[in-house]
Amino acid sequence: MKFLIMTTVLLNTLLFAVSGEEVFKAKCASCHQYYIPQNKIIANAEHNNTDLNLTAPTLTEMSFMLKDQVGDRKTDAEGQKFQIEDWLTGYLADPSKEKGVISKKFTRFFGKMPSMKGQLNEDDIEALADFMYEYAEKMMRRHGVRRYSYDAAKQIAKKEGKIILIEGYIPYCRWCMRMDREVMVEPEVKAALNKKFVLVKMNLLTQKLPLGMKRLGTPSFYFIGSDGKTVIDTVEGFGNKEEFLDLLKSIEAH
Ligand code: HEC
Repeated sequence: MKFLIMTTVLLNTLLFAVSGEEVFKAKCASCHQYYIPQNKIIANAEHNNTDLNLTAPTLTEMSFMLKDQVGDRKTDAEGQKFQIEDWLTGYLADPSKEKGVISKKFTRFFGKMPSMKGQLNEDDIEALADFMYEYAEKMMRRHGVRRYSYDAAKQIAKKEGKIILIEGYIPYCRWCMRMDREVMVEPEVKAALNKKFVLVKMNLLTQKLPLGMKRLGTPSFYFIGSDGKTVIDTVEGFGNKEEFLDLLKSIEAH
């Protein structure tokens, strides 16, 4: 009997666990779109929202900025999610322009967000915070260029005669974030990379660069020949799409 009650309780928790994705779909998605490439968002803002006619910021923009601006981004994920949940609770009950964390450049043409007071309980907001926190990273993985482990990259490079490109980053580096959002998701960049390069992403705080290479500031790019032994070049700093494509061309010409 006890066993039966236990399983029923467990089943109920599973059945009724709130999914942030479902809450978002039901309560937020009528105004907030999910993902639009950041370069389109930038152009749209320059054209006073006439390209896309958005009603509200996208979930991807909110996800990036919540992670960047709310709570302590150097704390662990669980800790920061808790801080984001707190912030969302306040924002959703009484939204205002001043509380928004996305740059006004991207929100100045939007109307006011209606209050959600009484429409969401604590569990809904906790689930939302979790979903919104994870979303940007998920989109960068889905839309960005494919990355491999260093060992897998070495094998592919050797077999296919490709150049290994290690992107060095650290988790809270804003220019690395821009590289992911504005450059690594662009179709021309993905095509150029897939043709001649094989990509590895390394967290320079926790991972050691191969071949005794010195760590530069982030983001930084370390190009290694297909033999896996020769350093072709190391480059530091953010480049926009055109600059990054030029860099790839100059490396290929080596
Ligand atoms: C009726 C349309 C509508 C709905 C529904 C809606 N929002 Fe919004 N939301 C907006 C608008 C418009 C803005 C921009 C407000 C501004 O710039 O002040 C906004 C802004 C926001 C912001 C702040 C963005 C910033 O500037 O940092 C957050 C966070 C947010 N919404 C979350 C949600 C969540 C979560 C839900 C669902 C529970 C939701 N919204 C439902 C229209 C809506």
